[in-house]
Amino acid sequence: MHGDPNRHAHVDDPQRAGAKQPERFDSKKADRLDDPSRFEYLPPEKIVALLDLPRGATLVDFGTGTGTFAIRVAQARPDVTVVALDEQPEMLERLRAKPAAKSLANLKPALPDRVPALRGLADRVLALNVLHELGDDALAALGSLLTVEGFVIFIDWNADVDRPAGPPRDHVYGPREAAQRLEHQGYSAEILEPMPYHYVLRARPKHV
Ligand SMILES: C[S@@+](CC[C@H](N)C(=O)[O-])C[C@H]1O[C@@H](n2cnc3c(N)ncnc32)[C@H](O)[C@@H]1O
Repeated sequence: MHGDPNRHAHVDDPQRAGAKQPERFDSKKADRLDDPSRFEYLPPEKIVALLDLPRGATLVDFGTGTGTFAIRVAQARPDVTVVALDEQPEMLERLRAKPAAKSLANLKPALPDRVPALRGLADRVLALNVLHELGDDALAALGSLLTVEGFVIFIDWNADVDRPAGPPRDHVYGPREAAQRLEHQGYSAEILEPMPYHYVLRARPKHV
């Protein structure tokens, strides 16, 4: 289960080559992303603090799902533009349908076709519960969004702890394994203090 970070699960979709979890996120499970009990072990204020957003910054929430955390960041920081990016249009429809999202002028839902226009413009990227789903190409696209001074906060289910929720252990990484995958994909990665069921990494593309 742990060990070789290059030994990823079999993935049929070539666009997802390199991803540890073999299937894409099932949009039928989207209700789970809106379960408020998540905030007990993923406190939004802690995530905002980890992002350390400069005034007027642009944040891309990469793999935003239903935008649960993009909304919280956009509410906490009206000066920040929050681009809520997801590859599944049905997830973004759920986000757009939320009353909170409708009232936030600084929240911008986006599909991956927006990536070229956003290249080099993101002061920060948040990738929450998504690293295990990302193929190598998506990981490169994510890094290309950053400004020269920018960084990514990866927060994902920790394979090394007992958890009451989340994907099976062999579909996710432990913190060292995740950091090794990122290093292998051209990032430098620091392991930060974990959350109860999640590891936290701060990463920058090495060429930056
Ligand atoms: C487990 S959900 C997490 C959603 C959200 N970050 C949260 O924690 O509430 C993962 C999301 O990432 C999206 N995703 C996976 N790979 C992606 C990619 N390459 N580009 C954009 N979105 C992606 C999936 O569609 C899904 O909505």
